[in-house]
Amino acid sequence: MSADFLPVVRTVAELRAQVRAWRGKGETVAMTPTMGALHEGHLSLVRLARTRARRVVASLFVNPTQFGPGEDFERYPRNEAGDAALLASAGCDLLYAPDVSQIYPAGFSTKVSVSGVSEPLDGAARPGHFDGVATVVTKLLNQAQPDVAVFGEKDYQQLQLIRRLVLDLDLPVEIIGAPTARAEDGLALSSRNAYLTPEQRIIAGRLNVVLADAVVRLKAGDPVAKVEATGRAALERQGFERIDYFEVRNASDLSHPGPDILSGPGRVLAAAFVGKTRLIDNMAV
Ligand code: PAF
Repeated sequence: MSADFLPVVRTVAELRAQVRAWRGKGETVAMTPTMGALHEGHLSLVRLARTRARRVVASLFVNPTQFGPGEDFERYPRNEAGDAALLASAGCDLLYAPDVSQIYPAGFSTKVSVSGVSEPLDGAARPGHFDGVATVVTKLLNQAQPDVAVFGEKDYQQLQLIRRLVLDLDLPVEIIGAPTARAEDGLALSSRNAYLTPEQRIIAGRLNVVLADAVVRLKAGDPVAKVEATGRAALERQGFERIDYFEVRNASDLSHPGPDILSGPGRVLAAAFVGKTRLIDNMAV
C-alpha cells in the first residue's frame, strides 16, 4: 500500500467483508478505536498494533453519547482527510469511519454500563460519559471482531473499564494498553491540547510534573491523603483553575486505597482545567 492512501469503509458490512478477507488468508487483525483529531499518541497506538497483528484497522467516530451537555462535542476537531493520511503513514491498513446510523440505528435502545471501575474520578465528574464509551467500544469491537485492540494508558480509567467489559461480556479480543505519548515538557498528547493558548500550554505542561512528584512521594512512603492534598495545592499554585480530582487509586480496579501508606500497585490520576480546557493524565506507582 502506498504511504499516503488509506482505504475507507463506512458500513459494518464493508468492514466485516474486509476483515473476513484478511482472515481467509490467515491474517490477524488489530483495531485502534479513535475519535480522530489524530496526533503522535494515536500513531504510537497504530505502530504498537502493527507489532501485534498482520493488519490494522483504525476507527474514526466522534461518539456523541460520551459527551455531556455543555462539553465540546460540536467543536471537537474533525479532519478525516488529514487523519487518514497520518494513519496511512503509520502503517494502518483500513479506516472505518462509520456513518452515525451504523453505530446508533433508528430506535437504538441499548446501553452498556460498567459499574465499579467507571464510578469514581471521570465517572463522577462526567455523568454518563463512561456509559457512552462502554456502549460505543462494545459496538466497535463487535463490528470489527479484531484479535487485539489497542487503547492508550492516558485514558487509564477508560482502559480499565474496557478490560472489565471485555472480561464480563466474553468478547473474544485481547486488550492492549499503550504507554502515554508525551511532548518534550512531558505534557500528555491529547487532541484537546489544540485548544490551549501559548500561555495555557505552559501551565498545562506542569500537570505531569506534579503527578511525577506525587509518585516520588508515594514511593518514599508519604501517606496517600498527604500526597493527594499536596498535589491539589501544587496544581492550584501552578495556575490550574478547577481541579476535578487529584487522587491515588489502586491500579487495577481504581478503588481508593485509604489515607495511609500505599501498599500495592497504584496509580495517581488527575483532571484539571486550564481555562476552558479539561486535561487528564495519570502515572503508575
Ligand atoms: O479514547 C477515545 O478516543 C474514545 O473514548 C474511544 C475509545 C475511541 C471511544 O469513542
